[in-house]
Amino acid sequence: DSTPFSAKLDVPEALTFDDVLLRPKESRVEPDSADVSTRVSTTVELNVPVLSAAMDTVTEGDMAIEMARQGGLGVIHRNLSEEQMVAEIERVKRADELIIRDVVTADPEQTVREVDEMMNREGVSGAPVIGEDDAVLGIISATDVRPYLEVGESDEVREAMTDEVVTASESVTAREALELMYEHKIERVPIVDDANRLIGLITMQGILQRREYDQAARDDEGRLRCGVAVGPFEFDRAVAADEAGADVIFTDCAHAHNLDVVDSAREIKDAVEADVVVGNVGTREAAEDLVDFADGLKVGIGPGSICTTRVVSGAGMPQLTAVSEVADVASDHDVPVIADGGIRYSGDAIKAIAAGADAVMLGSYFAGTDEAPGRVITMNGKKYKQYRGMGSVGAMKSGGGERYLKDVDEDDDYVPEGVEAATPYKGPVENELHQLVGGMKSGMGYVGADTIDSVQQRAEFVRVSSAGQQENHPHDVMITDEAPNYSPGE
Ligand code: XMP
Repeated sequence: DSTPFSAKLDVPEALTFDDVLLRPKESRVEPDSADVSTRVSTTVELNVPVLSAAMDTVTEGDMAIEMARQGGLGVIHRNLSEEQMVAEIERVKRADELIIRDVVTADPEQTVREVDEMMNREGVSGAPVIGEDDAVLGIISATDVRPYLEVGESDEVREAMTDEVVTASESVTAREALELMYEHKIERVPIVDDANRLIGLITMQGILQRREYDQAARDDEGRLRCGVAVGPFEFDRAVAADEAGADVIFTDCAHAHNLDVVDSAREIKDAVEADVVVGNVGTREAAEDLVDFADGLKVGIGPGSICTTRVVSGAGMPQLTAVSEVADVASDHDVPVIADGGIRYSGDAIKAIAAGADAVMLGSYFAGTDEAPGRVITMNGKKYKQYRGMGSVGAMKSGGGERYLKDVDEDDDYVPEGVEAATPYKGPVENELHQLVGGMKSGMGYVGADTIDSVQQRAEFVRVSSAGQQENHPHDVMITDEAPNYSPGE
């Protein structure tokens, strides 16, 4: 009584970005005023719904710092040793910290010249002077040092330092610290404990830098948010990432509906404080098996620009259908959904949100920027950066094979699911993000939605024919000037 084979081909249709457009609707939304804040996982909010991919040619500390400063999230890749991973997470968490914990200090018995050299070497313009037991005795700055150097004398720091030090306790806010600085005309405030022992430093420069990034995604202590990917079975690495301060841990797997992966992800979730986003999935059934414990679900089986999963394995789900199926289940449980892969234009990103995603993850879009790892290469007079799939031979040799549930000890055994490529060099990621988010906000204007939630509720799609797809792109002209957000054949 089995189903006839021919019935297997009586199949539902699944759609992706180019198959649809957002139907324009009545609107009073000015794109500039649209609010794109969102949630990437149950407890982590972002001001911009964009993540940089956990790939070794996209996200390490530099990218994660800049993404968080701009309001999004960088997800550090996992082809790093555990020590390197911890160091990168700590770099992000420390980047814009209000209280600097790793303070450059001076000794009262050092000579002024020695301290001057030390400050130059460390790139600081002042240092608390510390006695026994870390007691704060004074503070010395480049301004204090200069007259001593001019007259060529080499006095002790004790002579040159300011010994009436304005300090504050750890609970001080940025505003209070700034008020202290204005009141006493100083630029740095040592943070001390009850016994006047140094535990940190707040600088004027640090406060002003933080102000520049008023959209930054920060944790409760004001530190930048940081995401990190771990292998689905890398329990110890997940715990190390958690202890290093990662806000969101992504279990990084090409097929998270593998039931061993589901079990392992659940164990990781039970062991860490950070939110755990599980992925990748592409079906409603996968979502149902994960949604009771996952803090977020990441969607994408083979849509990525460097992916060969679909051609190699014959499996996959066109991305918009995948997002919508997962979002159907996740939204009932209030679990955020991230659309990962295949986004080439800002229009794709807002379509993903309209289909139910709360945020989007991009690899190729960011791989050519300054903040991505790797150097700029020149070919035929044009600048490029390397971009490779984490399932490519090169990336798997560097440790990424587990993502594809592959045992990759022997060179000959590699069955890659990704390619190694070059992508045009693009300059600072800030500019790319500006274009991406600006385009998404334009889309919000067309559908009359002023929040991400409202895009999900209001947006409707129309189906586009292949003639319509041609009409979508510039046509019948020869493009003469590069646009910052469009390149033909991208
Ligand atoms: P985009 O299109 O933004 O996609 O470049 C980035 C996403 O692609 C996934 N990824 C891969 N998928 N083989 C795959 O099938 C690979 O080698 C590979 N490497 C990355 C990943 O989800 C990433 O965020």
